Amino acid sequence: MATQSTPYCGDSLPLGDWNVSDSAAGKPERSAGQAKILLVEASAANRRKMRSALGEFEYELIEAGTTSEAVAAVSLNAVDLVLIDLLAPEMGATEFCRMLKRAPATQFLPVFVVAGFDDIEAEVRAIEAGADEFLIAPLRPKAFRARVQASLRYKAMIDSLDDSETVLFSLAQSVEERDPTLGQHCQRLSLMAAAMGIALNLPPQDIATLQRGGYLHDIGKVAIPDSVLFKPGPLNEEEWAIMKSHTEKGERICSHMRTLTDILPIIRHHHERWDGSGYPDGLKGEEIPLLARILQMADVYDALTTARCYKRALLPEEAIEVMSDEAKRGWRDPNMVELFIDILPMFRTQAPADFSRLSLNALASSLEKFRKQPARSSSRTSLFENQFQLANGL
Ligand SMILES: [Fe+2]
Repeated sequence: MATQSTPYCGDSLPLGDWNVSDSAAGKPERSAGQAKILLVEASAANRRKMRSALGEFEYELIEAGTTSEAVAAVSLNAVDLVLIDLLAPEMGATEFCRMLKRAPATQFLPVFVVAGFDDIEAEVRAIEAGADEFLIAPLRPKAFRARVQASLRYKAMIDSLDDSETVLFSLAQSVEERDPTLGQHCQRLSLMAAAMGIALNLPPQDIATLQRGGYLHDIGKVAIPDSVLFKPGPLNEEEWAIMKSHTEKGERICSHMRTLTDILPIIRHHHERWDGSGYPDGLKGEEIPLLARILQMADVYDALTTARCYKRALLPEEAIEVMSDEAKRGWRDPNMVELFIDILPMFRTQAPADFSRLSLNALASSLEKFRKQPARSSSRTSLFENQFQLANGL
């Protein structure tokens, strides 16, 4: 019966605080049980009315006076439902809703827009932006609560799918933990691949896919025996065939999850070669999916600069030389190698021993300083959306 209200008092967006070490998926922690409802309403009197309409059931109310406070609240909390005033300060309910529905992590978050007056045009715009309900105050408490609870049930069902995804990320993490020489290999890949995606001006959805691909690309190695995976010497033909099967096994493991569909090409094709000599399908040139070619750059560089029992870690200059040679031999996409070399100084200059200290926002803003070719300028809105989606995309 108890309800709890938590006003958000931050004065700046905390999106830059997102860091890759918090969780593989980069999602806010969820506490079990209570649903979290975010109320975005500037007027204290209206907030009171809304609380009264919600009545008494098990939920935690988070309050925000503006849409930037609401963005912060969504980034920091596992919100289950948003109630937003049509005229919410700064962005307004319709644009805020559109932004939530575009971001992969919040696309299924129910949004109720509440208007103080009947306005059919505003209602149509809100519904077109993805609003789940358009309600007119004064609210009819009984019907309102029924709608809220129906939406919370729907959200709980969606979250149970997300939980299955979390199991897979944990499984992928276990691959890394089996091999102590890898260190934070997946985090580094996730970060470098996302940096390349940003440099290429790819849409936020693709950047989120690259981040997730950094964690999941080698998940098929859970099915590779230790005797092959950790063999100190060269693999024989049979062992090599087993090792190569990690791409197809990984794809099979993740193929049953609709939410991982975008990552499957990365998992299957990250060992293809530009000249068709790679595996598993011998794809050539641009037949190899772009995101797989991007992740491959980070994967190859990281493998070259990491020590193994049978080889020392190459210096960055040596690794670049090897990658350039491989591009000349036809193994790598020359444009991707060039781009990777272009952005690499930012990783070397930042030299973060602990990659978790480097947020993706810092990454995005640092990128321009180190690139030889400046990227196309983005509008403030798209940059804001990009940052929001980076913070919530995994
Ligand atoms: Fe691999």
